[in-house]
Amino acid sequence: MNLSPQVLPLTPNIGAEIDGIDLSAELDAATLRFIRQALLKYLVIFFRDQVLTLEQHKDLGRCFGELHVHPAAGLEGHPEIFVVHADEQSTRIAGEDWHSDVSCDQNPPMASVLHLHSVPDSGGDTLFANMYAAFDTLSDHMQSFLSGLIAVHESEHVYRDRYAQHAKMRDAAYPVAEHPVVRTHPETGRKALFVNSTFTTQIKGLSSDESAVLLHFLFDHIQSPEFQCRFHWQRHSVAVWDNRCVQHYALWDYFPQVRHGYRVTIKGDRPYC
Ligand SMILES: [Fe+2]
Repeated sequence: MNLSPQVLPLTPNIGAEIDGIDLSAELDAATLRFIRQALLKYLVIFFRDQVLTLEQHKDLGRCFGELHVHPAAGLEGHPEIFVVHADEQSTRIAGEDWHSDVSCDQNPPMASVLHLHSVPDSGGDTLFANMYAAFDTLSDHMQSFLSGLIAVHESEHVYRDRYAQHAKMRDAAYPVAEHPVVRTHPETGRKALFVNSTFTTQIKGLSSDESAVLLHFLFDHIQSPEFQCRFHWQRHSVAVWDNRCVQHYALWDYFPQVRHGYRVTIKGDRPYC
């Protein structure tokens, strides 16, 4: 290991800050193992004061696997880089509702790595929620009922206006996918709720009223404060989260100030129950 890392949990349920690792350096096998284990244990991990070029950012993402390319948006010359930006011209921002990144893909990204270069004077925090806890706290009857269900995740209503200017989106089809409402994490074997209020539009096999009521209940349940941590960004903070068992919500309480950074996502498996 290049330094001696310290882990500072944010809450008992989710989130930890890790000090003592320089992410711009080439990470040795022991450090990589440490980071991957920390991600599985804490679900979202944070690093401060990391100065990374775009290439170093992509290299960091590749430590977790092959990079995923966003279906709707990418930085010119760096298709794997998704730009996160808000300023006084913004009329909306990405991520301002609970979601798991790009869950509309057949194989949604397993993790995301966000690096912010500019932050507002205050605000702009991100909330993260533990979807294992969201599942574990349901009754046995509800757990077994949900475990047989499939949900539809759509993207046109999310991406059409937001990314209409991107050439990539003009001819492309908007992804739609069907995923189990409860997924098994392929590394931990634990069950996690996998429906979110951004992309999930219906549950198959139920009437539209039944589906709407059940999704409303689940979206509400997922937001329980007990499942959450809240991260306050500084310039050059990095967050890595596991989309298989975490949802997040980007707060936009800092208009008209600037918040700017880059995200890479890592290819994931097809969710299974
Ligand atoms: Fe997101």
